[in-house]
Amino acid sequence: MNVVVTENYEEMSVAAANVIAEQLKAKPDSVLGLATGTTPIGLYAELVRACDAGEISFANAQSFNLDEYRGLPGTHDQSYRYFMQNNLFNHVDIDVEKTHVPDGSMEDAQAACDAYEQAIAQAGGVDLQLLGLGHNGHIGFNEPCDSFPVTTHCVELTESTIQANSRLFDSADEVPREAYTMGIGTIMKARKILLVVNGAGKAEIVRDVLRGPVVPQVPASILQLHPDVTVVLDKEAAAAL
Ligand code: GLP
Repeated sequence: MNVVVTENYEEMSVAAANVIAEQLKAKPDSVLGLATGTTPIGLYAELVRACDAGEISFANAQSFNLDEYRGLPGTHDQSYRYFMQNNLFNHVDIDVEKTHVPDGSMEDAQAACDAYEQAIAQAGGVDLQLLGLGHNGHIGFNEPCDSFPVTTHCVELTESTIQANSRLFDSADEVPREAYTMGIGTIMKARKILLVVNGAGKAEIVRDVLRGPVVPQVPASILQLHPDVTVVLDKEAAAAL
C-alpha cells in the first residue's frame, strides 16, 4: 500500500483529487467508483476547480457510487444521489446518464442489487475506486460481520452507523435502516483503490485497517490484499500508525 500522510484536510483533499485527476488524464474514459460522506467533500471541490480550470474533463468518464440508502429517492436531500449531484455532477462536464448510484427507490432489493452489479460489469469494471472509512471500519455500507459480502447487496445498518450518520438528518429516527451497497468483492475488483481518511477520531480504526489482521469484523482490512491501493491521510488520522 502506498500511504501518503498530509498536514491537514485541505492538503489531503488536494492529494486525493490529484490521484483522480491523473487517472482521468491517463484514461479519459475511466470508470470511476465514487463515495459519499463528509471526507470527500473537499476533494470533490478540488476536482470541480480543476475541471473549471480546464485541467481535467469528465466528458468521457462514467461513475458508479458505492452505496445508497434504501427507501430514499434521489431527490431526497440526504440521498447519496443528491449528494453527488450537489458536490460534483452538477459542477463538472460529466454526462449525468453515465453516472450511477444504486436506486434507493427500487423496492425489489435483489433486483436493484443485481442490476447494479451487472451495470458495473457491462461498463468493464471500475478503474479507480474512491473510498471513505466508517468509524467501525466499514467501506461503502459493508458493516463489520462474520464474512466478507461478495456482491452488491442490501444491508441493515448497524446502530453505530445510524448514530454516526444521524448528524446529517434531523434526528436518528429519520436515518433509513437499510442501504444498498457494493460488496467487498465488487470493491476488490476495482483495478485501483484510493482510500481517504481524516481526523483524530479515525486514528485507531486506520491503524486496525492498515496494520491489523485481515478480518471481516474490520471490513476495510481486506484492502491489505489489494495490489494497488493508495491511502491518503491527514496527520491526525495517521497518528496511531
Ligand atoms: C457512510 C458511507 C461511507 C462513508 C462513511 C464515512 O456511512 N456509507 O461510504 O465512508 O459514512 O463518512 P464520513 O466521511 O462522513 O466520516
